[in-house]
Amino acid sequence: MKKNKLIAGNWKMNGSFGANQRLMDEILTGIEARKPACEIAVCVPFPYLVQVQDYQDRSRDDSGEPMLHLGAQDVSAHKAGAYTGEVSASMLRELNVAYAIVGHSERRQYHFESDALVAEKAQQALAAGITPIVCVGETLAEHEAGQTESVVKRQLAAVIHTNGHCISEIVLAYEPVWAIGTGQTATPEQAQAVHAVLRAQLKAATEHADRVKILYGGSMNAANAASLLGQPDIDGGLIGGASLKAPDFLTIIAAASV
Ligand code: PGA
Repeated sequence: MKKNKLIAGNWKMNGSFGANQRLMDEILTGIEARKPACEIAVCVPFPYLVQVQDYQDRSRDDSGEPMLHLGAQDVSAHKAGAYTGEVSASMLRELNVAYAIVGHSERRQYHFESDALVAEKAQQALAAGITPIVCVGETLAEHEAGQTESVVKRQLAAVIHTNGHCISEIVLAYEPVWAIGTGQTATPEQAQAVHAVLRAQLKAATEHADRVKILYGGSMNAANAASLLGQPDIDGGLIGGASLKAPDFLTIIAAASV
């Protein structure tokens, strides 16, 4: 069975109540008009979850399912307690958050998140009924040193180790760090090759590996989305910059709906 693709926006640390409203009004109008045949999520900063939750509620299709899902950009590795500044998975679940990005390269790089910590964050999300979007990807130096495969396999292995058979419930995102926000996208062939490696690793861990959506992220935009999404193991996109422009995000959604 062909699985629906997932297009997830990652706003990063951008937005304001006014700008979010303009963006989301346009996205919701576009989605309602076209009823796209893909899943859609927007991963927003914590203070805007309640604002965007309203759009999730308003986006219900004829069967009552939301067409637009709410996502967070991080989640604590802890359940509850003395962790100042952290937000737990159960708190996110109370806001009907469906997805949480974990292990984004910006968190690995600027907040020194280890593979083990990322795996624990994924575990907390899963336990609360939230789908973690687990990011993996190599830096430019690792890419140039020919270490792409070994890096992404090490990052995924930690998540498999901690989460066991639940690994079939995650979404995986391959985001080469050198392609994020740089305008330099991996070619569809380059991305597909890494996705195939990740799929094989998932297959060794679960009989449901084909169910796992593997997204590509890193300068995916309105112009290159169709060719990337046309690859057999690319099941969607994690979209940064282009998710802040409604026409571009809607074009990517359309490309994922063919
Ligand atoms: P980008 O970001 O689309 O702006 O490259 C992707 C991401 O970091 O998730």
